[in-house]
Amino acid sequence: MYKLFFQLFFKRMDTERAHHLAFGWIRLAARVPVLRTFVAAVLAPRYKELRTEAFGLRMHGPFGLAAGFDKNAVGIDGMAMLGFDHVEIGTVTGEPQPGNPRKRLFRLVADRALINRMGFNNEGSAAVARRLAARTPVLRTTVGVNIGKTKVVPEAEAVGDYVKSTERLAAHADYLVVNVSSPNTPGLRNLQATEALRPLLAAVREAADRTVTGRRVPLLVKIAPDLADEDVDAVADLAVELGLDGIIATNTTIARDGLGLKSPRALTGETGGLSGAPLKARSLEVLSRLYARVGDRITLVGVGGVENAEDAWQRILAGATLVQGYSAFIYEGPFYARAIHKGLAARLAASPHATLAEAVGAETRKAIA
Ligand SMILES: Cc1cc2nc3c(=O)[nH]c(=O)nc-3n(C[C@H](O)[C@H](O)[C@H](O)COP(=O)(O)O)c2cc1C
Repeated sequence: MYKLFFQLFFKRMDTERAHHLAFGWIRLAARVPVLRTFVAAVLAPRYKELRTEAFGLRMHGPFGLAAGFDKNAVGIDGMAMLGFDHVEIGTVTGEPQPGNPRKRLFRLVADRALINRMGFNNEGSAAVARRLAARTPVLRTTVGVNIGKTKVVPEAEAVGDYVKSTERLAAHADYLVVNVSSPNTPGLRNLQATEALRPLLAAVREAADRTVTGRRVPLLVKIAPDLADEDVDAVADLAVELGLDGIIATNTTIARDGLGLKSPRALTGETGGLSGAPLKARSLEVLSRLYARVGDRITLVGVGGVENAEDAWQRILAGATLVQGYSAFIYEGPFYARAIHKGLAARLAASPHATLAEAVGAETRKAIA
């Protein structure tokens, strides 16, 4: 049904317009109590066996919405209504910014992929903090806040920009993510080098501790799939050294290897980050590598090309405690998160693992034993 609708309607429409339209409907539906209750009952069923804990937070299920869909925290309840158990908002930057000129989001339908060069279009940390502070949640969900660097702020002053966002947003975040892996802000990914990352993460940790009292806000870092394997190891070691709570693997890729010859060259040649199916193999590889390095010392979040329950299950077996998706939601539609949680419950029941936590990393442990 959704696929037919997609073919007839969304596919013909500009991708970013289609996003705003669909997101508008979701937000509207979530504002009507009867509709919200009905949709949530159908799309966000809770499976006892999928209850999980990540960085000290109790969750109803491991699957959530990746950053970039709800950049300004305007539709958290809408996405929870669709069955995403956690919603990561952002990327939010210190200052508001328009992002790159349009067109900046492209659908590679034949490859079940997207290319985007949005460039962190968002209302900025002050406006998003105000919105989060005023929010009365109607559906229980975990809210992650993903922060990045304002484009006009020079790389040398990046720490101050992240600290500003942290001071404003940490109090409203169930967990905080330092994004140093978007390919669409010049120089951003240089912050993944340990010499730059160490002071950045330390400063954000300090700012979160200084501004939030009574609890310790979990801090995660989100990395690119384009890091060389040694650099993945270096980030993993640094995360352990700094006592970070988690690593999100991965963001979009600047590589184009995962693509077949299905999508037109004019599209595959667009500048930006590639996401969706072609990213699957590398994201899984980075995740397994991280788990082999850090084991259970750090919580891992698997994202990149997760299209269905089997993909999500593979991420869990590779080492992910939480799994996220974005691109496949565009292609699969409103039943996406529900299908994943349902399929995960079935896979867990059919597996030798008594709990989800026990399944985390089982394949990677076997491979390195
Ligand atoms: C249009 C678009 C915008 C995105 N914006 C952000 C962002 O602002 N911050 C971020 O950390 N990741 C962003 N991402 C990356 C996703 O969170 C995710 O890491 C990536 O798309 C891989 O997952 P997927 O294959 O399920 O889409 C964006 C992805 C897309 C497609």
